[in-house]
Amino acid sequence: MPMLKIIVGTMYGGALDVAEQVKPLFEEAGYEVAIFDQPTLDDLIGSPTDLALFCVSTTGSGDLPGNIVPFARALEEQSPGLGSLRYGLIALGDSSYGDTFCGAGRYLDELLEGQGAQRLGERLEIDAMETFMADDAALPWVEEWIDAQQLKVA
Ligand SMILES: Cc1cc2nc3c(=O)[nH]c(=O)nc-3n(C[C@H](O)[C@H](O)[C@H](O)COP(=O)(O)O)c2cc1C
Repeated sequence: MPMLKIIVGTMYGGALDVAEQVKPLFEEAGYEVAIFDQPTLDDLIGSPTDLALFCVSTTGSGDLPGNIVPFARALEEQSPGLGSLRYGLIALGDSSYGDTFCGAGRYLDELLEGQGAQRLGERLEIDAMETFMADDAALPWVEEWIDAQQLKVA
């Protein structure tokens, strides 16, 4: 069974909740799913990854949540090259923060692309000003993503 890894960056648990809610959709699509809420770079590259999904909120002024900082720092410092990685990215933010809206998700996306990873489709940006429960936006997006990117294996 192919392995889908969900890498989570969260302060208050919203992004982790999104990860847990979308997990069954990938299981139904034929994947083994692992969620990493204290992710390390080794979690991603130390064992086979057929597909990755990043669920990342933003804190401070466009900053990464603390739990995913070690992951991002290792990516920057070790520059492992991720040429074989295909991924999707769900960013949680709040447009009332202006220019730093979804800053962490956007930064991580750049970092991954800079390492040669291939994002499938567009990034989803969930605005807390518009969407009270992030799952309401994430679940239909993931269904559509699986469909549009032909990710179903079972
Ligand atoms: C102290 C603080 C700082 C924040 N800074 C930003 C920001 O710079 N940009 C943004 O888009 N959202 C910002 N947010 C909004 C959060 O990203 C948003 O509420 C998100 O849904 C939280 O997800 P989480 O529960 O996974 O931590 C901030 C929220 C807090 C509490």
